[in-house]
Amino acid sequence: MVKINSSYRKLQGSYLFSTIAKKVTEFTKANPDKKVIRLGIGDVTLPLSPTIIKALHNAVDEMAHKETFKGYAPDRGYSFLREAIVENDYKKRGCSISPDEIFVSDGAKCDSGNIQEIFDVNSTIAVCDPVYPVYVDSNIMAGRGGDYLADKECYSGIIYMPCKKENGFTPMLPDRVPDLIYLCSPNNPTGAVIDRNGLQKWVDYANENGSVIIFDAAYEAYIRSENIPHSIYECDGAEKCAIELHSFSKNAGFTGLRLGYAVVPKALVRDGVSLNDLWARRHSTKYNGAPYIVQRAGEAVYSAEGQREIRGMVDYYNKNADYIKTNLEKAGFSVSGGTDAPYIWLKTPDNMSSWEFFDYLLSKANVVGTPGSGFGPHGEGYLRLTAFGSYENTVEAVDRIVNRL
Ligand SMILES: Cc1ncc(COP(=O)(O)O)c(C=O)c1O
Repeated sequence: MVKINSSYRKLQGSYLFSTIAKKVTEFTKANPDKKVIRLGIGDVTLPLSPTIIKALHNAVDEMAHKETFKGYAPDRGYSFLREAIVENDYKKRGCSISPDEIFVSDGAKCDSGNIQEIFDVNSTIAVCDPVYPVYVDSNIMAGRGGDYLADKECYSGIIYMPCKKENGFTPMLPDRVPDLIYLCSPNNPTGAVIDRNGLQKWVDYANENGSVIIFDAAYEAYIRSENIPHSIYECDGAEKCAIELHSFSKNAGFTGLRLGYAVVPKALVRDGVSLNDLWARRHSTKYNGAPYIVQRAGEAVYSAEGQREIRGMVDYYNKNADYIKTNLEKAGFSVSGGTDAPYIWLKTPDNMSSWEFFDYLLSKANVVGTPGSGFGPHGEGYLRLTAFGSYENTVEAVDRIVNRL
């Protein structure tokens, strides 16, 4: 008799976005005259920029000719892309990362879910609460969760680091030393960032204790403040304790195109083994590379025109974030995030639960957010709004919230 991986039985249903979709469908059916504005999902809405489209077209044409056709990509990604990444994302920031420490992938979701595979099944993991759910669920699937404690809405085997208002929604060092520490700055869902001194503390802690930090930099392009590191390798000693994950989704609009990369430094050694070698082994065994045409599009992101265009996209979303934050604050709401991130973390008024406020907002303002409780117990009492809508819709949604609630 075939048995399934019993760890999958411990996964809790991912009801968040399906419940949101169901509630919105019911509402629109009952109120066909109302225009619903969605500021819930973290997907971009602007199209790919001209330079990227041009690079895609050129690469497609290359595929049509024997002389320029490309088959399987090199295991770690084409060197034209890895070199552009190193030059622009690292050298310019004073970080000494080399192309053979870069692993091109089809996005940060896969990398953040897969990276745990190279660590022992008994490794302890620490995550922020609230958290991007992939970090937790991928470890549950791997058998690291322990038991699900329904009353606490958490797993006995996972170390949760509460991110509360008192600590600026950033994690404090945990009481118990974890093997793996997942950090995400700028953060999804809270929009909080870890500053240079704060991140250096985590790097020192990991090096002192032999932990490994998985640093998710998917929203790095949204950083506007001076003292916020764009890469963990801006901290001293990070190459000895940190893996960094990047995405082209939110900076360049590749959510549908799919491209990302992981950095696994050669200096990162645990248990006497180079993690770069281990990840190379895993990557080449289970992954056959991001498409050539997409890697050429990724290269175009780093061209002068590409950089200018994607800066324009990020500025557009940042302007939305500013509008949401400033006007909700002015109206007396308690809001955070939104300065160095495309997410605004809104405290629900009148002690409403996240779902109560979601329903209230939908019915009164016809605006959709994401209930904070869906990201973890410490997300209860909050709602996440995103800056990824159009400027017109963002303005209308905020004005409705301000005037109708
Ligand atoms: C924190 C975080 N990491 C990774 C991702 C996924 O990125 P990608 O589109 O590159 O898979 C997301 C997407 O929302 C995210 O919020």
